[in-house]
Amino acid sequence: MFSLSGKVAVVTGGGSGIGKAISVLFGKQGATVHILELNASAGESSVSEIIEAGGQAQVHACDVSNQAQVSEVINSIGKVDVLVNNAGIAHVGSLENCDADAFERVYNVNVKGVYNTLYAVVPVMKANGGGVILNMASIASSIGLPDRFAYSMSKGAVLTMTLSVAKDYIKNNIRCNCISPARVHTPFVDGFIAKNYPGREEEMFEKLSATQPIGRMAKPEEVAALALYLCSDEASFITGTDYPIDGGFIRLNN
Ligand SMILES: NC(=O)c1ccc[n+]([C@@H]2O[C@H](COP(=O)([O-])OP(=O)(O)OC[C@H]3O[C@@H](n4cnc5c(N)ncnc54)[C@H](O)[C@@H]3O)[C@@H](O)[C@H]2O)c1
Repeated sequence: MFSLSGKVAVVTGGGSGIGKAISVLFGKQGATVHILELNASAGESSVSEIIEAGGQAQVHACDVSNQAQVSEVINSIGKVDVLVNNAGIAHVGSLENCDADAFERVYNVNVKGVYNTLYAVVPVMKANGGGVILNMASIASSIGLPDRFAYSMSKGAVLTMTLSVAKDYIKNNIRCNCISPARVHTPFVDGFIAKNYPGREEEMFEKLSATQPIGRMAKPEEVAALALYLCSDEASFITGTDYPIDGGFIRLNN
């Protein structure tokens, strides 16, 4: 079960955190993994891990917010069976703490970056007779989180792009779903804690861990396991759905 043997998988932001865990697991399950990364050396280290484990992988230096770069990379890959839109950036702040530059920065990566890869990959999948797309949304896609104005805006768009693509391309044998994690312990979380709460890192880490009723953050590998299921043939009846993976955050925080 859950074999990706013979499949070509594209993972954006596969050099760190959740994207790295997904890339490594997909490689282990037999996919040829293409990592699109802004940080090419981080992507290279994921590739080395996959190859050392006997898999096949390649990194492509690429900024997902740049449409020309994304199109060029996807055209060079040729066939894509699985696309995981994972690259994303954080922003902490309410509306009043989000100036136009910050808003645009988050929009360009988290919204336009997803659009760019979808725009490049969907025609390739159509021509190949189908494929699977998985987008990294967030609990912020569907509930109000404090101080996450721009981030929530971007992840709401990821959820609705997922539904739109799932609807329009169901006839082309393309499945499209998204995953909504609560906090996952990755450099992304460590980075925004360090940037926004200097000197209070430990306190904030504990506080953010406790907001999951399960009492901790997720591990990237736990999110990767759900990603594998949704991208495998075993999930062939699943499309147009958002999967929370949240330690009880959405339903049990009352
Ligand atoms: N960590 C969490 O708590 C959490 C929770 C919910 C959703 N998410 C989402 O999961 C995804 C991955 O998060 P993570 O925690 O693994 O983050 P991370 O910061 O550990 O990794 C993100 C990777 O994306 C790459 N990246 C950033 N901008 C890019 C760009 N413009 N082009 C190409 N690559 C780029 C980075 O270089 C990095 O390697 C993001 O979309 C994030 O919003 C994370």
